[in-house]
Amino acid sequence: MSWNMYKTHHRYGGVRGDTLLDFGTGASIYHLLSACEVFDKIIVSDLLEQNRTEFQKWLNKDPDAFDWTPIIKGVCELEGNRENSEKKAEKLRSKVKQVLKCDALKRNPYDPVIVPPADCLLVCLCLETPCKDVRSYCNVLKNFKDLLKPEGQILILGTLNGTYYHAGKKRFSLLSSKKEDLEMAFKEAGYIIEKAVYTLRADKSNIDVADYEGHYFIHAHKPK
Ligand SMILES: C[S@@+](CC[C@H](N)C(=O)[O-])C[C@H]1O[C@@H](n2cnc3c(N)ncnc32)[C@H](O)[C@@H]1O
Repeated sequence: MSWNMYKTHHRYGGVRGDTLLDFGTGASIYHLLSACEVFDKIIVSDLLEQNRTEFQKWLNKDPDAFDWTPIIKGVCELEGNRENSEKKAEKLRSKVKQVLKCDALKRNPYDPVIVPPADCLLVCLCLETPCKDVRSYCNVLKNFKDLLKPEGQILILGTLNGTYYHAGKKRFSLLSSKKEDLEMAFKEAGYIIEKAVYTLRADKSNIDVADYEGHYFIHAHKPK
């Protein structure tokens, strides 16, 4: 069971609503498995077509799709319902209403589509690469406000103090974010922080793959 899956499962406490917008989904579902219990509709989105296609394969039960069964079972276990992993997968599939293209660096990240304001925006490990500095991170947060209803919630999971990560042979830069900078960015962008959690990286065995020092989780909301 991955750290991210565990954390994401536990962080929905109290957050619920009609629509969840997942930003920078990649081809992942781990962070949506608990969300599908508390939201009626989920819109997933990513910059890259290959990620959207891969997600769509899982949605369509394509035989080539990545097998998420062990992760689904893990989440069911965390939720105290370990026998129902197939039902859980079906529930998530039934809640995903759209797979959209998005770009964090655009004023309207869904341009030319106008997505109706959502109850909650979920962003897991997506902003570290597109945002080159805290100013750019803050601008993205400001633009995200238009994607939310008044009092809409934002949940962001990210890495702390990293400079790079590798995906295969490709090297990506990471936004080197510090606790104080992140909280300041949320405040400057006009959010009210409800909770901020910081954890240090325990296992540094894969430091050559990525050099971040920990994770942060910030739960905030847009004012009325
Ligand atoms: C590390 S993956 C995280 C995927 C997923 N959220 C997860 O937690 O497994 C980062 C994702 O951000 C997407 N991404 C990178 N730049 C982006 C941008 N400018 N706008 C939207 N998504 C972007 C990538 O395509 C990739 O799917």
